[in-house]
Formats: sequence, C-alpha cells, structure tokens
Amino acid sequence: MNILLEKIDFSKIKSSVIFLYGSDVASRSLPFKRDEVAYIEAKRKEDISSLVILNRLPYKIYVQSFNSELPVDESLEQIRKSAAALQLMLMKEKVQSVAFTGEGIIPEEAVAFLEGLHMANYRFEKYKNKKESLLSDVHVDSLLIEPEVMKENLNLWRRIDRLRDWVNEPVMYLNAPLFADILKEEASALSNVKCTVLGLKKIEGLRMGGLLAVNRGSEDEPRFVVLEYKPENRVNKRPVALVGKGVMYDTGGLNIKPDDYMTEMKSDMAGAATMASAVFAAAENKLPVYIMAFLPLTDNRPGKNAYAADDILRMYDGTTVEITNTDAEGRLILADAIAYASDQKPDVIIDAATLTGAAVRALGTSCIAVMQQDADKYFGLLNIIGNRVYERLAPLPFWKEYDEMLKSEVADMINCNLQAKAGTITAGRFLAHFAHGCPYIHLDIAGVAFYSKRESFYGQGASGFGLRLLYAFFQMYDTIGN
Ligand code: BES
Ligand code: ZN
Ligand code: ZN
Repeated sequence: MNILLEKIDFSKIKSSVIFLYGSDVASRSLPFKRDEVAYIEAKRKEDISSLVILNRLPYKIYVQSFNSELPVDESLEQIRKSAAALQLMLMKEKVQSVAFTGEGIIPEEAVAFLEGLHMANYRFEKYKNKKESLLSDVHVDSLLIEPEVMKENLNLWRRIDRLRDWVNEPVMYLNAPLFADILKEEASALSNVKCTVLGLKKIEGLRMGGLLAVNRGSEDEPRFVVLEYKPENRVNKRPVALVGKGVMYDTGGLNIKPDDYMTEMKSDMAGAATMASAVFAAAENKLPVYIMAFLPLTDNRPGKNAYAADDILRMYDGTTVEITNTDAEGRLILADAIAYASDQKPDVIIDAATLTGAAVRALGTSCIAVMQQDADKYFGLLNIIGNRVYERLAPLPFWKEYDEMLKSEVADMINCNLQAKAGTITAGRFLAHFAHGCPYIHLDIAGVAFYSKRESFYGQGASGFGLRLLYAFFQMYDTIGN
C-alpha cells in the first residue's frame, strides 16, 4: 500500500474519502450538508465508534467516529481497529484508491489510522490464483504529519508485511538454509547491517549441542545467523542482543505432535523473523542504537537420526541437558544462542520465542508473556512502550524456586518438567540459566505470533505482533541512559 502526502481539494475530489471524527465535526470545513452533519452527530451519540457512509455516486464518504476522550493508548487502538473494519469494507467494494484527511484530528490519530489500514491491508496470497482487491493508494491530506515521520512509519509497516510473509511461508519453501540466504540478502540491500551466516561445520566447531541435536532429524542443515547494526552515532556502548527462536517447522520431533496440534507450526520461527526485522527496521530508519541479533535456525523432525528423550546434550556453554521431551526444542536452540550472545557482554539480552502452549492457555492471544532477570530498567521502558503501542506485556513470576522443577538425576538440567505445571515459567527459567548474569528479558510470543482466525488489523495468519513494540523501544532507547 502506498501513502501519498498531498494537498487535496475535497470539493473536487474524484475518489472515495475517509474522515475520522473524534470531536466536534460541525466546526470543520468539510464537504457535508447540514442535515448530513446532524445525521453524523446523531449516529455518534448512539455509538461513539459508528461509521456513517454517505453516497457521492460513484464514490462514497466514510465518516468514522472514535472516542477521543479515552486514554490516548486506548483511543489510538480503537482507531487502528476501526481502520481494519473499513479495510474489509473497501476490499469488498474493490476500492483501490482512497483519500484521507487528517483535518480536525491530531497527527498521532491520523498515523494510527494509517497504521491500522496498512496492517489490515496485508494478505498472504502468493499461492492463490484468485487474489483479493486490496488498497493500493491512500492520498493523505495533512499539514501536521511530517513527511519524514510518514516515511519512517511506512518503512516499519513494510517490514511488518515482510516479516508476516516469512512467517506465513510453508517450510517446504522456507527452510533454515533458505531463510539464512534471505536474511543475508536483506542485510546487503541495507548496507549498514552486517550478516554472518554460520553453517553446519561452524556450528559443530562451536559445539552448539542444542541446535545440533534438534537438527539431527532433519534433511536440511541448520544455520546460525548473526546480524549486527552498529551506527556511528550510537547511544549505547554495548549492543542490545536480540535472540529469536527460529524453528522453521515444529513437528515435535520423536515426541510427535498429535492430531491437529501440528498445523500452524510453520510459525515457530516467528521469534527469529521478528528479531531480524527489528534490526532491519532500526537500520533502515537509522536509529542511533547498537543492536545485534542471534538467530538459531532449524526444523524439528522425527527423521532417521533424530534426537530422543533420555539423550543428554552438552550445550555451547558446557551445561548438560537431559531430554525429557523432544517437543521442548525451542529452549535448546535458544540456550545456545543466549549463551553465545552473552559472550558479547551486551546491555541486555531480549529473546522472542513461540515457546509454550501454556502461555496461550494462561494469557490468551492478545498479549506477550514476559519474564525478566536483572533487567528492571530495560523492562520498565519496554513495558511502558508495550502499553503505548498496545502490544502489551504480561509479567509472570520468575522466582529461582522454579528451578527445582528442572532438576535432573543424570545431567545439570532437564529440558522440560513433565508434570505440565508452570510450563511458561519453567521454560523461561531454563533459558535464564544461559544468560550468565546478563540482564535478560524473555518474551513468549506463542499467543500472538499467528492467528488462526482474522484478528482485527493483525489479520489472519502471521500477525507481526511485537515488531512495533521493539521498534518503539529502540526509538526511546536513549532515555535509559547507560
Ligand atoms: N512451538 C511449541 C509451542 C507452541 C504451541 C507455540 C502452540 C505456538 C502455539 C513448542 O516447541 C512446544 O512444542 N512446546 C510444548 C512444550 C512441552 C513439550 C513442555 C508445549 O507447549 O506443549
Ligand atoms: Zn515443540
Ligand atoms: Zn516449538
């Protein structure tokens, strides 16, 4: 979707138009007749988020009301959601070009609307013969939106689209080596991101026992991708280390997933896709923050020589792990990546992973389960940002007593406790062991990364949930003051 900032004469316009209406429509210089204004006001009294459609054959005017009295975060989210509803309507009517005015609303409200519209206008339809009619151009009339701000947001929104493409792609077209190739290409297109791809031999050399074990049942080699964005004007000396779960497909391995639990597991690399996208978005918009990403990539399959329960792995940092269930594979590849990241002595390690079904059961599908250790100030900012962009964090307890549940008779730890208690927390505690005392934040995105059914502007399938959060965190990173 293109967004074109321009001056529009609404009295002469030859396209459909969208108006947002937060308060006091009558005072504005809008092309409405008096009885139309009265009608719009009456509808707004009935329902503060009403949509009124006025016919100007062959075009239409959409007047979307919203509640500007709500706390600002909620009001902006309501605007994004109303944009998603409108996108569906425009799609049905095959409207491909529309005008939008920011008059009478604040720039944040206009940008939130465009954000919702852009995100809602995404479809993964490269394999469909019959494609939807999506919006292609939105002409925006606003004196208050700075062109640079528009460009920055547009870059971010396009990153979200691309991230969703990667997550929606089936493993048969996107395995670990291919995904590493794509990340390499993306990095070289940006020119300010360094991308190092470690192949099987290097991973063996580093003794990444977790990544190697999970990969053993696969026909495809693993990859370990390191991205580095280190701008001249960086505000931080040590990098922020992002780690993302890159299980290209999770069959469960020998503990194979039953029934329909396997469907949608192409999305098990959403963490890696999100973290790579966060680096690319920051680099593309030249944010002054030093960021690295560590992305272990493999699928998890019950192939010929697959790792098995009772195996004892030696991880990159020397920790030994007794396998109790091969479906708890994410934490094994992440453990190696987190330990490897901790070698960089980063400001903070943040991981994102579609890690546990338990997170979905506990919290549902509209927030991220978050746990942290020694990272209060980073978590403080991330949490505030989460509320602001409405990609919110739900903190879980993270007491060391949970480590009791990870004790093994034959190794340093087990990979998962079989009692199915506190599954999200024990997974997080397992990972925290490998941060070696670095400030550490764990984001379990299992509930939000992929939606079976359409979910407002996040759509159906890969949602891109979390990228706006990380990007806004980096925008504000200087306020942490290291
Ligand atoms: N990738 C899954 C977690 C998952 C489940 C993500 C549903 C998104 C939706 C993970 O690797 C897994 O299989 N976890 C197991 C852990 C169990 C074996 C301790 C789970 O949650 O059932
Ligand atoms: Zn699994
Ligand atoms: Zn998994």
